[in-house]
Amino acid sequence: MADTVTITNNQTGESVEAPITNGGVDAEAWRKVLPGTWFYDNGFMTTAACESRITDLDGVNGILRYQGYPIEQLAEKSSYLEVAYLLVNGSLPSVSEYAQWVEEITHHTFIHENAKKIVEGFHYDAHPMGIFTSMVAALSTFYPESKNVGDVDTRRRQVVRLIAKVPTLAALAYRYSVGMPVVYPDNNLGFAENFLSMMWRLAEPKYEPEPVLARALDVLFILHADHEQNCSTTAMRTVASSLADPYVSTAAAAAALYGPRHGGANEAVLTTLNEIGSYDNVGSVIDEVKAGKRRLQGFGHRVYKNYDPRATVIKEQAEKVFEVTGRNPLLDIALKLEEVALSDEYFISRKLYPNVDFYSGLIYQAMGFPPNMFTVLFAIPRTAGWLAHWGELVGQENKIARPRQLYVGEGVRDYAPMAQR
Ligand code: CMC
Repeated sequence: MADTVTITNNQTGESVEAPITNGGVDAEAWRKVLPGTWFYDNGFMTTAACESRITDLDGVNGILRYQGYPIEQLAEKSSYLEVAYLLVNGSLPSVSEYAQWVEEITHHTFIHENAKKIVEGFHYDAHPMGIFTSMVAALSTFYPESKNVGDVDTRRRQVVRLIAKVPTLAALAYRYSVGMPVVYPDNNLGFAENFLSMMWRLAEPKYEPEPVLARALDVLFILHADHEQNCSTTAMRTVASSLADPYVSTAAAAAALYGPRHGGANEAVLTTLNEIGSYDNVGSVIDEVKAGKRRLQGFGHRVYKNYDPRATVIKEQAEKVFEVTGRNPLLDIALKLEEVALSDEYFISRKLYPNVDFYSGLIYQAMGFPPNMFTVLFAIPRTAGWLAHWGELVGQENKIARPRQLYVGEGVRDYAPMAQR
């Protein structure tokens, strides 16, 4: 059997045989026989918009690999900063490469004092994700050289800056929203530890993070670091394709992440679990979902039609965290919800499984993070993934993202003066 597909235009009788390469057919073949007829694909259900070497995701078999390395191995053996290096550079670092990488990131954790003043302009109860997104965009004005996206060294400097500064911006957004003084980065701490210090430090001369919690956070960062062409990464690539600088492109990606269908789902899961409140109410919520009155947040995925491998690792981490913090009382409701959903025909037939967001909020909450910080916690590590895709895009031959539309509006109409309408 040939690995090709034949496209025939029945209006003209013209045919073209196109090869299936890496699981896809080049749309160029379509254009040849059907010029001016658009391939309609609402939500990109069947469209591959790029070639990428970064993350391999097989949703049918529940497989996720960064640069070929299985997510389970990375979660067990690696660290977030090593994974960030892997995503951005394509291979695991040597001892000296890693030492240099960590040093560079550590020395770019501070933000300009004027950036703090911008944060002070937000309303006292501003959502931290809104502050975070705006502040990432604002960094563009502090680093005008970043517009030179064609230069490899300039690109690399912005990658380091962004990965290093997002925890500082995230903690700043939180501290401002609760009226606490800003804590500056502690460059003697690791990446996750420093973030915890900027979040929680009070009057103590040095913040000493609980090692189990710091490691759990680092593992969560690994799990969230990339996920190929999701909504936010697509936003990043789309904006970057206009050759916009990496700060505003990352802000666009963060904005896409904010929505409850994407990264905002972790906050929405907690809201749902709180609403359910007790074991006895699980059944009625499932009934509402089946009646189409609501969606079960933290369930379902465009690509996974199997258990999300990240959810498996998160469940294991949850147990470790709860040994230190005490069991989150919402866990029992979550487990019951999962059990009921996974045995229900509605969920089975649609292949709806818990995704990464279903259990992550329970860990974050047990660690003391308020729900409005959950999506920010997702954005911190995903910044490495966004930047890996940005680097890949601007480093390869690419075109500006510019889809077509099927116009279904009015035909030509003559303008009538207002009094005659
Ligand atoms: N609860 C109930 N029904 C659902 C859900 C859900 N969470 N997700 C999908 N369905 C149903 C949907 O109603 C549809 O049923 P029918 O065929 O009868 O109309 C079917 O499953 C297919 O749904 P879809 O909306 O066409 O699927 P999609 O691939 O366009 O959407 C999704 C994927 C993630 C947006 C969706 O599953 C969803 O809204 N989930 C809840 C939000 C969530 O947890 N998002 C986080 C995703 S993972 C992390 C991340 O990306 O940030």
